[in-house]
Amino acid sequence: MSPPRLIGTDDWPDDAVRALLTRAAELKAGAAGRSLAGRTLIMVFLNPSLRTRTSFEIAMARHGGQAVVLEPGRGAWAMETRHGVVMDGDAVEHIVDAARVLGRYGQAVAVRAFPSATTWTEARRDDVVHAFARHSGVPTINLESARRHPCQGLADALTLQESFGERPKGRRFVLAWAWHPRPLPTAVPASAAIAAARLGMEVVIARPPGYDLDPDDVAAIEAVAGRNGGSLSMTADLDQAVAGADAVYAKSWGCLADYGRPEVEAARRAPLRSWIVDERRMASTRDGAGIFLHCLPVRRNVVVTDGVLDGAWSRVTDQAENRLHVQRAVLETMLEGEVRG
Ligand code: CP
Repeated sequence: MSPPRLIGTDDWPDDAVRALLTRAAELKAGAAGRSLAGRTLIMVFLNPSLRTRTSFEIAMARHGGQAVVLEPGRGAWAMETRHGVVMDGDAVEHIVDAARVLGRYGQAVAVRAFPSATTWTEARRDDVVHAFARHSGVPTINLESARRHPCQGLADALTLQESFGERPKGRRFVLAWAWHPRPLPTAVPASAAIAAARLGMEVVIARPPGYDLDPDDVAAIEAVAGRNGGSLSMTADLDQAVAGADAVYAKSWGCLADYGRPEVEAARRAPLRSWIVDERRMASTRDGAGIFLHCLPVRRNVVVTDGVLDGAWSRVTDQAENRLHVQRAVLETMLEGEVRG
């Protein structure tokens, strides 16, 4: 049997995700954590992190386990992530060999690899995290890839449940595209929409023309919504989407049709600076009291105004805290069993 993997929560049964969220809430409330003594989680960060790295390191420590962090190119060998290439460039270690070796040292591996391919056709395959899952021989956790950020999605779900109860069916969740100086990955918006859909929420994606998510990700959100009594719709009218909403999740992402052509994408994005979540928009939410969400880090007064982030609407610090609690539940679930050797 293959070791468990958490690439995206949409690959997991709904009951398993619900059980994780219940366990995360118990741990947050002070329940004793199961021991992970003797277990090591090896995390490979091909891109920077504040929350993911810190919260996973602390989660392992809370359970008596150990976390090892590698940053290829900074203290660990630079890694080649493409397959079948002649490695006569800067990278001296192939991810397949790294995955095989790290799987012999640790009881789980975790990897962050933002999209780096030149085409979306290639980037959307999420080859790096799948290579670790295929070759490490141990449980594998996606710490954010091109398409999914499952631990962020779990923290988003826990935060929504804290505001609206365990099954906030019928509540409106708006994923609000925001202007940003660079085209960002679609992992967070896809994962957040999947999280809200699984709670049975009415998911509305407000985005300018040309900024649709990958069709397979839209299908994944629809499938999860369909199983859980939720819905998905799209609009290019941010004001209309936000008016009466229960939750507004701001996030920027790049135009996939322009992937790999930053100048073209920048020209498309240039006239869209009014796509920002501000006090006026949040005041139009249900009873003026909708909640504001963002995964962080966030560019203040670009994606969202200071007044929203520092106001009563904001749940972003709770969201970030919840990363710790959901990841403790993930680690308990994925690292159960005997430690070999
Ligand atoms: N939200 C999130 O993943 O934060 P980091 O990039 O700091 O890990």
